[in-house]
Amino acid sequence: MNANDSTAYGAVPEEAVGLDLNDHTAMDDYQTIGEPLVDNAKMSARDVNVFYADKHAIMDVSLDIGENQVLAMIGPSGCGKSTFLRSLNRMNDIIPICRVSGNIALDGEDIYASNQDTVLLRARVGMVFQKPNPFPKSIYENVAYGPRIHGLAHSKAEMDEIVEQSLRRASLWDEVKDVLDKPGTGLSGGQQQRLCIARAIAVSPEVILMDEPCSALDPIATARIEELIDELKERFTIAIVTHSMQQAARVSQRTAYFHLGKLIEVGDTKQIFTMPRHELTENYITGRFG
Ligand SMILES: Nc1ncnc2c1ncn2[C@@H]1O[C@H](COP(=O)(O)OP(=O)(O)OP(=O)(O)O)[C@@H](O)[C@H]1O
Ligand SMILES: [Mg+2]
Repeated sequence: MNANDSTAYGAVPEEAVGLDLNDHTAMDDYQTIGEPLVDNAKMSARDVNVFYADKHAIMDVSLDIGENQVLAMIGPSGCGKSTFLRSLNRMNDIIPICRVSGNIALDGEDIYASNQDTVLLRARVGMVFQKPNPFPKSIYENVAYGPRIHGLAHSKAEMDEIVEQSLRRASLWDEVKDVLDKPGTGLSGGQQQRLCIARAIAVSPEVILMDEPCSALDPIATARIEELIDELKERFTIAIVTHSMQQAARVSQRTAYFHLGKLIEVGDTKQIFTMPRHELTENYITGRFG
């Protein structure tokens, strides 16, 4: 595949037209439509395949995530969004039957290299999950935990500074500054999710992966997280999985549409939502299935 050859991604594959959505063997020779590759890639995936035992969950996906951008990943339930996201910081390693092939690089370096330290990798590529999952510790300790195990603070004052900065960046400081010793689990759902974002930020990651971070939150808490994502992209590179088309449209600059393990189409978010080029993308965003 040639990154500069737009025709490589340009044509709608004949196989895609009139596709039987339940036929997993259709489109064997599919090609992603749009622009999977970018000039300023922070992470790049090439020909990635993921299997759970003999279940082929991700098929030949090549996709870049541009630096200081938000990439949204959308698609019907079970299409492989979480699987692909987890492959970006090797969270799939902890699933024994899971096997990943292909190449995934962070700043051009293979994250699946045998000498890659996965603890360090997951500090560089942090993750925020669907359900807020604070540790059963104080608000302060939730944020201080990562910096402590990575030795990022050399004094109590430095740790205090990291905790405050992280909570400020997660737009939670004002609400918790007087109750830092109270349990993180005692916060509201939206506050807990911002605490988890603060925890991810505290170790100064380069990339933040978010898997449906707002699906357990009400519209007001969701709006706060969306504002936050917009601010965070100034410092971090973000990939977010979402079932909300509106959310993808609001927070992302690029959108990737997955279907049955394949990356069908990727491009500028505006284009994907106003002029999708692939029939499957169009069907999904117009609510015909998913
Ligand atoms: N731990 C696992 N073991 C076996 N199969 C799995 C596992 N996790 C996911 N799968 C399978 O891989 C496929 C992709 O699942 P994945 O969770 O990545 O989809 P998704 O797009 O995130 O779906 P959703 O929108 O429902 O979260 C599905 O067929 C799923 O059943
Ligand atoms: Mg998922």
